[in-house]
This record gives sequence, C-alpha cells and structure tokens, in this order.
Amino acid sequence: MSTRKTPDQLRSQLWFGGDALRSFAHRSRTKQMGYSAEDFAGKPVIAIINTWSDLSTCHSHFRTRADEVKRGVWQAGGFPVELPGMPVNETYMKPSPMMYRNFLAMETEELLRSQPVDGAVLMGGCDKTTPGLLMGAITMNLPAIYLPAGPMLRGNWNGQVLGSGSDVWKYWAEKRAGTIGDCEWSEMEDGIARSAGHCMTMGTASTMTAIAETLGMTLPGASSIPAVDANHPRMATACGRRIVEMVWEDLKPRDILTEESFRNAITADMAIGGSTNAIIHLVALAGRAGLNLDLKTFDEISDRTPMIANIRPSGEYLMEDFYYAGGLKALLGEIRALLNLDCVTVTGQTMGQNLESARVCNAEVIRPVDNPVSRKGGTVVLHGNLAPNGAVIKPTAAEPHLLQHTGRAVVFSDYNDLAARIDDEGLPVDETSVLVLKNAGPVGGPGMPEWGMLPIPKKLLQKGVRDMVRISDARMSGTSYGACVLHVSPESYIGGPLALVRDGDLIEMDVTARKLHLHISDEEMDKRRAEWKAPPPRYERGFGALYSSHVTQADQGCDFDFLHSGADTPEPEIH
Ligand code: FES
Repeated sequence: MSTRKTPDQLRSQLWFGGDALRSFAHRSRTKQMGYSAEDFAGKPVIAIINTWSDLSTCHSHFRTRADEVKRGVWQAGGFPVELPGMPVNETYMKPSPMMYRNFLAMETEELLRSQPVDGAVLMGGCDKTTPGLLMGAITMNLPAIYLPAGPMLRGNWNGQVLGSGSDVWKYWAEKRAGTIGDCEWSEMEDGIARSAGHCMTMGTASTMTAIAETLGMTLPGASSIPAVDANHPRMATACGRRIVEMVWEDLKPRDILTEESFRNAITADMAIGGSTNAIIHLVALAGRAGLNLDLKTFDEISDRTPMIANIRPSGEYLMEDFYYAGGLKALLGEIRALLNLDCVTVTGQTMGQNLESARVCNAEVIRPVDNPVSRKGGTVVLHGNLAPNGAVIKPTAAEPHLLQHTGRAVVFSDYNDLAARIDDEGLPVDETSVLVLKNAGPVGGPGMPEWGMLPIPKKLLQKGVRDMVRISDARMSGTSYGACVLHVSPESYIGGPLALVRDGDLIEMDVTARKLHLHISDEEMDKRRAEWKAPPPRYERGFGALYSSHVTQADQGCDFDFLHSGADTPEPEIH
C-alpha cells in the first residue's frame, strides 16, 4: 500500500488550509506577492535556505542557483520559497566562523519550524555551512536535501597549479624564508581563487560536502561537481524536483541517518584524507540524530581504511581533477567493500543502487585500494595525560620522521604572544622543539580558530626546516599540513592539562601508539593545577555569552549542551 501523503496531510495546510481567520490572512498575504491559488494551493511548500551574501565568497553563484532550484520545484508541482540563512563564511568572520556554526544550526531549525514549510533544500558549502544547515535540519526532521556549492576551479600562477589554503601556507613560508618576493606573492593573489565555489583542495568544505553525500543527504555525485560546471545548475534543478517527491514520500533526515550511514561517512572521510575538522562536525551531526559517536570509532575506522584520494594537502591533485576522475561516487565505488550499501539516501534508493554506475576514470587521482596514497586513513586520535579526552592529528599531511617524536616545549600563552615572539631571534627553539599554543579552544579562542598550524619560526625556515611538532587546542584549516596536534581536550582555557605545560617540559608524541604524553610526575601536575587561575569570561553579554556558557568541548562536537537535552520542541500553535 502506498504511503504517499495527500495534500490535506501537508504541514503547510496548518497555515493555508481551512476557513479560520488566520488561514484567510496566510492565503491573502501570499496573494499579496502576486501568487494565485493555482500557484500554491495543496502544494508542498519547499524552503530554499540560501546562505548567499555579498561576503560569502564561496557562494557567489547561489543567487542564480536558488532560481534553478525553484525551477525544479515548480516542475514537480511544489511551491518554492527562498529563506536567507546566516551566511557563515570562512574568509571574513571573526573571531572564528566556528562560533557561528551553531547559530546557523539554530536558525535553520527555527526557520523550518516557525514557517509553513513541508521540505527544504539546504544551500551551503563553505566550511561551517554544511554542518550548520544539516544540524538544524536533522533536529527539525522535515524532508531535506543538501545542495553542495561545489569546488572552485584550480588556481593558476605562472603555469603552476595553486590550491586554496595549501599553497597559501606553503608560499607564505617561502616568502618568510626569503625564497620568493612581493611580486610573485602579488601574482598569486590574482590567480589562487578564479571562480565561484568553495576551496578546491580537500579542506573542510570538500570534506564536509563529501560527508553529506556519503551520509545520503545529497543527490549521488553532487558534491564533486565544480561550482561553475553546467552540471551544477542541472543538479540544483534536480534537487528542486526531488525534494517535492521526498515530501510526498515523507522521507526525512532521521530515516536516512543511522549508525551505519555515519560509519560510511567516517570511512569516506578517511579514504579522502579529509579535514581534521570533520571529526568535530560528525560528532555534532550524529548527536542531532540521537547517536553517540566517540573518538575511538574514528580511530578504528581509520585503521582499516586506505586513503585513496590523491588530493592536496595530503596528495597532489585538486577537486577539479577529482571530478574528472569520477568524483566521490567513483571513490565510494572503489571502497564499496568497506561500506554498508543498504543505507538509504535522499533518492529513496540505497547507497549500493546509487553506486551501480560508479567508475574511476583516472587511477592516479582516485587510486585503487591496492595502491593507495596511504595504507591507513587520514586522521588519527591521540590520548594521554596531556589530552585525557583526546586530540587529533593528520599523519598523512606530516613529515613522517616527526610521527614519533619527543622534544622540549616552547610555550605561547595565546595567539598574540605567538605572533609577537615566533620570529624573535632570541626564541630558544630548534627543529626538535615542540611548539605549544594555549587558549585557542572552543571557549578560549573563542570559537576554536584555525590557528593550529603554528608558523615555523623564521630562523628555522631559513635553515630549511618546513615541519615541526605543534600542539594546541585550536583547529587547523583542512587545507593545511604539518605535524600539528589539534583539538586537545579539555581545552586550556577551562583548565585542561595543556594549561599546565611550561617552557622546557618534555613532550612525547607517538602516532603509532596513539600517545601524547607530558613528561612530568602526577604530583607536579597536581601542584601546577592547584596554582592555575581561571581567566575571566571572554564575554559578558550577547551571543558570545550564550556561546561561552553552553558550547561543549571538541570531543563532544562543540554543539550547545541545551540542544541535546529536554523533550522535543513541539510544533507551534497556529492561531
Ligand atoms: Fe569557503 Fe574555503 S573559504 S570553503
């Protein structure tokens, strides 16, 4: 028996149906915008949540894409309404866009709840927009489909290919070392971001859109299409058509998101060499779906998953090459033996059915599993007395000789201290030192800024050093590389052990043993803890105060604690 909804069962009918005074107002006000009853009566209302703004550089094509989604919604017999969502952008938002991921999640949830909406197309791509939009939509649990912005074209400079972020960090180090000058640097500024779309390395944006696809929340193949490829607007229109059907079928996010689909997503994350940020976002997304992902799961899946995407920063190519090689669909086809193929997706079909036509067109870009870029996944979780609740590192992006390393700490109390002293000729540092940055976590940063790839001191750069062990409670850009231990939890600002490290302490990192150890006695640790004084709150009012009071630590996904407790929020009464 069909379980399709009938028009009178649409949620939007609570607003538009019947003879009540309010229904009259809702219908007449819709007509105020020039629509007639034929446009909207008895049709699924589809919210297009658009994170476009004049400062969302990665989403500059979203104004026209929203129109292309609308075209699909009209074609399928729906009524499209565009609702602007918080345009969290990685480039300009300070102190850190991570502070505003939860803001977007709350906004998405409340936009969908408070308005006459039956289903949603979520338009995002720049790092935090993917988890923010999905977290809100999962909680509200109306039919929803994710429309990824797509990567921008390859960068180009002087005949060389440039990758977002990765080549900025690389050539910035060369500029500080004096091997390139202002002229070359200025030419790169013109060539590194050539089109609409998100960063085209395997940074957080490409990682999170790939995760959204693997979770089953996008159309198959959607996440790899370059933003300016004609296939992208065609995909947008297909999203519009499909969401209308999803409303009739009543196919909702929590029908799609299961423990197995999250295991698939972690497997894909490891196979693509995804951003370390993905761990935080995946924990938060799973929490919204009522699932508990602990860091051990990541480590276990990393251990059995080869990294086969040869994309910067862990590989050589860029997302445009990945698309031409078959994209994420081809990669998932290559690792199908590691996936649960029964997971349902927004198509209404299973992952296995979606992958039937998957094929790799360039085995150098998407490697076979028996010739991977790395035998194990891209992210590893460390524990020890310095990180009782965990820390992460991306070993595939680090110099191998640093993966077992013991060195003396050179400690910076915060980012300003780091900026003031890192290039000081008198800084007691050499290539065996371990650079430590404190007070850069979720509360202390605030917002856990991407400071975790601490710069190499200039005097060491000039000696040819390009990587060192660095430890912080910050995040790092997914486009970065280096032996950077990140997300140390609990963070130093709230008194985690990182707060107790002093210059000259011996720190041991052993990636194989998953170990991060501060070589001081327990008694000395207790003594330092007793001497530690809590710093004053970062904020006394506004969103900052709400954020600081309720954000959880990195190992718990940095979601707000109150979004995980209490009974479900009821639907609004409509009077
Ligand atoms: Fe938007 Fe990198 S700045 S994805």
